Amino acid sequence: MFYSTEKNDHGLPYNPYKSIVVPRPIGWISSLDTDSNVNLAPYSQFNNLGYDPPYVMFSASHKNSAAVLKDSVANIIQTGEFVCNMATYELRDAVARSSEITDSNVDELSAVGLTAAPSEMVKAPRVAESPVHLECKFYTSMILPGYDALNTTHVVVGQVLGVHIRDDAFTEDGKLDVERLRPLARMGYQDYTSVDSVFEITPQGPNAAAMIAGMGGEARGKK
Ligand SMILES: Cc1cc2nc3c(=O)[nH]c(=O)nc-3n(C[C@H](O)[C@H](O)[C@H](O)COP(=O)(O)O)c2cc1C
Repeated sequence: MFYSTEKNDHGLPYNPYKSIVVPRPIGWISSLDTDSNVNLAPYSQFNNLGYDPPYVMFSASHKNSAAVLKDSVANIIQTGEFVCNMATYELRDAVARSSEITDSNVDELSAVGLTAAPSEMVKAPRVAESPVHLECKFYTSMILPGYDALNTTHVVVGQVLGVHIRDDAFTEDGKLDVERLRPLARMGYQDYTSVDSVFEITPQGPNAAAMIAGMGGEARGKK
C-alpha cells in the first residue's frame, strides 16, 4: 500500500504512522514554571543527539486547538532548564498518569504519587523513583510547520549537563543493566514495549578492534 501523509488516505481503521518509527524511547520531562510549580510529562518523540556533550530532544504538539504551548515546552523556554527521567516498566502507570494532567498549577510529580529529589546543576527536580536522570540546559527550539496551521510541532533540544544513575543499576561488569531497568518505550495505538532482551553484534571489519576499544573506552567522545 501507499498513502500520502497530507491526504492520510490509508483507508485503515487506525493511522499506522505511529507504529512505524518504533519503539520510541520516552523522555519523562520534569521542569519548573516561573513560579516554581513542578511539571512532569512523558514525551515519546524523544531521543539522544550526540555524546560530547550529549544533547537530548523532544517534540510536542500544541496543548489544545488554540495553539497554546504545552507546559513542558513553555517552562523550558522560560526557565532554560529541565530534567529527563528514565521511564521504566515498573513506573509505567505513573508515566501514563503524568500525561493526563494539563492544569499548569498542579504539581504533577506529587499528584501521581512520586517523590521529588533535588538536582545538582538545575533547579528542576528529579523523579526519585526513576533510576536514571539527565540534568539538562535548554539549547534551542525549532518550530516545524503542520499541514494545518494549528498543527505545528515544537522541537526542544537540551544539552545534558549531568547524569545521575542509581548505584544498583549496574551489572557486575559495570554496564547499565537495561534488562533489569526495563526502559519503557512507546509504540503506535495504545501499545507500549520495554527492553527485555539484549543481544550483541560484534564488529567484524578491519576497524573492529578500534570499534570494540572505543565502545569500552574512557576517553572523551568514545561511544
Ligand atoms: C507515553 C506518552 C508519550 C507521549 N509523547 C508525547 C509526545 O511525544 N509529544 C506530545 O506532544 N505529547 C506526548 N504525549 C502527551 C503529553 O504527555 C501530554 O499532552 C501532557 O499533558 C503534556 O504535559 P505538559 O503540558 O505538562 O507538558 C505523550 C503521552 C504519553 C502517555
